[in-house]
Amino acid sequence: MLYFQLVILAGIIMLAYYFEYTDTFNIHIQGFFCHDSSYMKPYMGPEESSAIPPPILYAVVSGVPVLVITSMESFLFLLQYVSEDLDNREKVIVMGDCCYLNPLVRRIGCFLGVFAFGLFSTDIFANAGQVVTGSLSPYFLTVCKPNYTSLGCAQYILFISQEDACTGDEEEVMGARKSFPSKEAALSAYAAVYIAIYITCTMKSNAMRLAKPLCSLGLICLAFLVCVNRVVEYRNHWCDVIAGFIIGGAIAVFMVVCIVKNFKGKAFLTEIPPEDNMDVVPMVHHPGLEDSLEKFISTQSSITFSDAT
Ligand SMILES: *[C@@H]1O[C@H](CO)[C@@H](O)[C@H](O)[C@H]1NC(C)=O
Repeated sequence: MLYFQLVILAGIIMLAYYFEYTDTFNIHIQGFFCHDSSYMKPYMGPEESSAIPPPILYAVVSGVPVLVITSMESFLFLLQYVSEDLDNREKVIVMGDCCYLNPLVRRIGCFLGVFAFGLFSTDIFANAGQVVTGSLSPYFLTVCKPNYTSLGCAQYILFISQEDACTGDEEEVMGARKSFPSKEAALSAYAAVYIAIYITCTMKSNAMRLAKPLCSLGLICLAFLVCVNRVVEYRNHWCDVIAGFIIGGAIAVFMVVCIVKNFKGKAFLTEIPPEDNMDVVPMVHHPGLEDSLEKFISTQSSITFSDAT
């Protein structure tokens, strides 16, 4: 079963790679109106010069969950390991679960594996949306630099749908054709929502009552800041960012609710099935009921006896 899941994960990573680094999938070429002011925002340079450059965003989005889940699970495991009575531990050994780390590793692997699966799925969703719609970013006309004279836009407002209408840098124009939905918003929303639910579901201590919402809302707020940054730098429209946020959040909720079942998983050391004490439970004694039953039976039998005689 594990190998099968690894194959699926590898397949989805390859698909994400093809979307990201190759031009296997042709971007839909969308037309535009001459002098359309919604696409004439200034160009703030390539993605690398953004306030939140992609390498840093990707590192945070994949690194922070690994860090949080690993440290949190190890902490919870140690806590339980220390507090667990010796009896129980011996039972685990007797039952053949010789490796204490087994449940810990299994839980971390499960949560992180599902996280990775969802992360690459989000990436594919966002990339597929961008390629299929070919939606133009706010700075499109700035990098496209169409020759309005040769296109005939000098007198009329025309709808330009030629593929070669742009005279600007080829790569920048292609980048400007990928706007809906915002991949950065989707990835950050996905990671933030996943970890927020993880923290909410696993932190059980009462002392952490306020730390839980603080961490969760802080993460959501960071994702929101990434979204705002995209709009402020004119790289995406508001609707792109909102759509990306919804996609990322929805995939995270789906992963948590349907795949890892709210991070319940198996308890660490208490995997021994509880002793079958169903038959030990004493029968509840109902004196009144029994008495009336006896009376009923006796009257019945007396009737039958009287009938027989
Ligand atoms: C735009 O096209 C016109 C006519 O084809 C040409 O004369 C002009 O030099 C072009 N302008 C630029 C900036 O390429």
